Amino acid sequence: MFFCYMSIEGNDNALLTITWDDAGLGSVRLIDQTKLPETLEYIVCKNHYEVANAIKNLSIRGAPAIGVAAAMGLALYAVNYNSNNKEELFSGLWTAYDILLKTRPTAINLKWGLDKIMAESAKYDTVHEIKENIIKMVKEMSDDDIKANKNMGRFGSDLINNGDVIMTHCNAGALATVSYGTALGVLRSAKESGKKISVFATETRPVMQGSRLTAFELIYDKIDVSLVPDTAVGYLMMNKMIDKVVVGADRILKSGHVFNKIGTYQVALLANSHNVPFYVAAPLSTFDLESDLDSIVIEERSADEVVKIAGKRIAPKEVRVFNPAFDITPPNLITGIITEKGILNPPFEKSIFEVFEIK
Ligand code: MRU
Repeated sequence: MFFCYMSIEGNDNALLTITWDDAGLGSVRLIDQTKLPETLEYIVCKNHYEVANAIKNLSIRGAPAIGVAAAMGLALYAVNYNSNNKEELFSGLWTAYDILLKTRPTAINLKWGLDKIMAESAKYDTVHEIKENIIKMVKEMSDDDIKANKNMGRFGSDLINNGDVIMTHCNAGALATVSYGTALGVLRSAKESGKKISVFATETRPVMQGSRLTAFELIYDKIDVSLVPDTAVGYLMMNKMIDKVVVGADRILKSGHVFNKIGTYQVALLANSHNVPFYVAAPLSTFDLESDLDSIVIEERSADEVVKIAGKRIAPKEVRVFNPAFDITPPNLITGIITEKGILNPPFEKSIFEVFEIK
């Protein structure tokens, strides 16, 4: 086991979820999130198949993180290609694109990352130039992800008052991005600006991103956090224990519908009926301005995630299971969407078009 930290604006120990390593032909190093919170271990991927597996088995997860991971997977295909035939490289890149795209269907960032690399590759005439510029691009994507999160944090921090108690669901933190996080980036930024905040993290059954990852990284950054069962959300809100909710997103449509971890919709409904402001923090790379609501595939994951906890069976062998990984929160339940370009207010159809400068 070894540890990897980075320095981002004054934090020498920030968690760095994924990095491109130039040594040798190049490799991708990522925190193995299936091992958290017990151990902070890293996986080194040397080809796109290994990256695809890491995405599929949730070693790396969270929309922005898998966008960068997929892009790096394509870059690995390119650096491993050892001939000079540009057309052949291109056709191999498309095959790798399909393999990486099929890993997880709901977060749009995955396709965004892959499309960026394919568009960049199309600009150059030689295999050498393509390789060089793809590598440059994945490094820029990593840096941009952190910058976007820091900006989102600054905008979002203005919404947080000193003493606020904030609920978050799933993990939209450093571990779901390259570093710093979206929803948790807002909380980090509020704390950095001197505000005293405390957080309630939901466990987020069945994969437990809340207890395994959010609790881990908030404790790591010394942000006050309490863990609650998903089933306690209504009780906390009814007892006025929550001032605001901040969550991340896997895909946001032009209508303002937000796809996020299963359970988000329930939290949003409860927040709405208890007059608790409900914010979504997400970079512009999470917006999908083309798709219709009905066309998005909600990932269904294995029954094992539901019938077992830490490998131990907790349901009868015969039971049928339905395990959707994401749900949809409609725009009427959302108070604001925090992006790196500012806070989008309802009506979202209008504010989303404005931020993308669409007439
Ligand atoms: O299945 P996961 O863990 O990849 O789901 C992640 C989420 O739903 C996060 O809340 C979302 O990606 C936002 S991450 C900044």
